[in-house]
Amino acid sequence: MFDLLIKGGRLVDGTGNPWVTGDLGIKAGRIAALGRLEKAPAARVIDASELVVSPGFIDIHSHSDTELLVNPRAESKIRQGVTTEVTGNCGFSLAPLGPEGLERVRAELEGYGLELTWETMGGYLAALEQRGIALNVAALLGHGTVRRSVMGYERRRPTTVERQRMQEMVAQAMAEGAFGISTGLIYPPGSFSETEELVELSRVVAEKGGFYASHLRDEGDRLLEAVTEALEIGRRAGIPVELSHHKAVGQANWGKVKDSLRMIDEARAGGLDVTADQYPYVATATGLGSIVPDWAHEGGGKRLLERLQHEDTRRRLAAEVEAVQVRKGGWDKILVPSVKTEKNRRFIGLDLAEIARRRGQVPVEAAFDLLMEEELEVGMIRFGMSEEDVKEVLSHPAVAVGSDGSALAPYGRLGEGKPHPRNYGTFPRVLGKYVREEGVISLEEAVRKMTSLPARRLGLWERGLLRPGFWADITLFEPGAVADRATFADPHQYPAGIPYVLVNGEVVIEKGEHTGALPGRALRH
Ligand code: CU
Ligand code: ZN
Repeated sequence: MFDLLIKGGRLVDGTGNPWVTGDLGIKAGRIAALGRLEKAPAARVIDASELVVSPGFIDIHSHSDTELLVNPRAESKIRQGVTTEVTGNCGFSLAPLGPEGLERVRAELEGYGLELTWETMGGYLAALEQRGIALNVAALLGHGTVRRSVMGYERRRPTTVERQRMQEMVAQAMAEGAFGISTGLIYPPGSFSETEELVELSRVVAEKGGFYASHLRDEGDRLLEAVTEALEIGRRAGIPVELSHHKAVGQANWGKVKDSLRMIDEARAGGLDVTADQYPYVATATGLGSIVPDWAHEGGGKRLLERLQHEDTRRRLAAEVEAVQVRKGGWDKILVPSVKTEKNRRFIGLDLAEIARRRGQVPVEAAFDLLMEEELEVGMIRFGMSEEDVKEVLSHPAVAVGSDGSALAPYGRLGEGKPHPRNYGTFPRVLGKYVREEGVISLEEAVRKMTSLPARRLGLWERGLLRPGFWADITLFEPGAVADRATFADPHQYPAGIPYVLVNGEVVIEKGEHTGALPGRALRH
């Protein structure tokens, strides 16, 4: 007797094989059987005729670390069919925390009315589980988080003692269940580190069987050099490598992904385990503070704000930033999705050229003043990639789909601003726009990139495929209707055509609505 029987669907099993019709029986949270099961007794039946039955999607690049604590329902992700999220990307995680990290994370959580109750990775994972989560979480530990805890925002090499302290923190976080280490090499303090330091920390991760995920040091003019660095770290530390949100930014760099993808192929042919992930949009999203060059971040946010106030330093910064931004496409390619204060809310959704006009300033001055008025809490969306590159990257067999977004909701604190639509639309956009409408890849290949490919990278050997004995993370969607609805102008919109999502055998999305169930787990590596 099954707990749940999904009847008569098109089984897309996650391997990339063409779909077959069949039934799927679930018992005690796991897939109990596949095949012709229509006569088997079941406590509950879902009719899946006309629907694709797929393994739940695994979002290998997510930033929901805080959002899952704010709203455990994980609305914008679960409604895309995501059943496991990988948090702690781009160098930032909520654990492990040393003194300096503690203060910042405490302040961030307090802003949401949440209390910081942990310092370690184990403590963070336990806190997630205690509150409950709609989907599963696999956490990475952020290199920037560890470095900040030990060295603050010092722009120099670690001393031997500091390096050892960082290695201990990494080892402990891995022992407590982290799946790997992430770096964000454009963000301070991660950007202050040299290759050597990353190799030394990655060796500790490699020993525990984890992987190295990297927001590369450069995704524009020096993209290929940055890929070379990541591959070098992989070779020297003996660690599998995941190139995060792969792309080439800036018109002058369009087409370079052909070369970077070839580098992946060559590295793989040479025995290095390297893969990548991608979100299906031509715009990036990060903090506006990242337009400011690295040297001005030395010492942390307070020091940066002082530099923006100091006349000579500001002039020097303005000249540097202006030159770079023009090369990256200009100020009108940058939208502001979020601010902190009420008075600047009127600028949300506008581009920086327009904001500058309304403020009666030149764009670089407007950008600097916004950063000061908002104490650096200004978002940035940049239209910097080409559609052709997006398709090129999507077509590569070693590239998984990952949102680079968070679990938001159209209500409450997580519904503010105009965030990047990838938070709501990544997975259905691949299935709708790139599979059904444009035929860039097949449906089965797209599902493989969302399921078994990231599962293998993570070492989740009992998820990511439809197989007897595997955990019943299942997504049901309408192949003719699945689509993203979130846009840059109106991003807080759930996708269409995903009526059922199950996590560990429990129905979380039913007829397109959230049941309120929180069956997710904090997975341990
Ligand atoms: Cu990221
Ligand atoms: Zn990133």
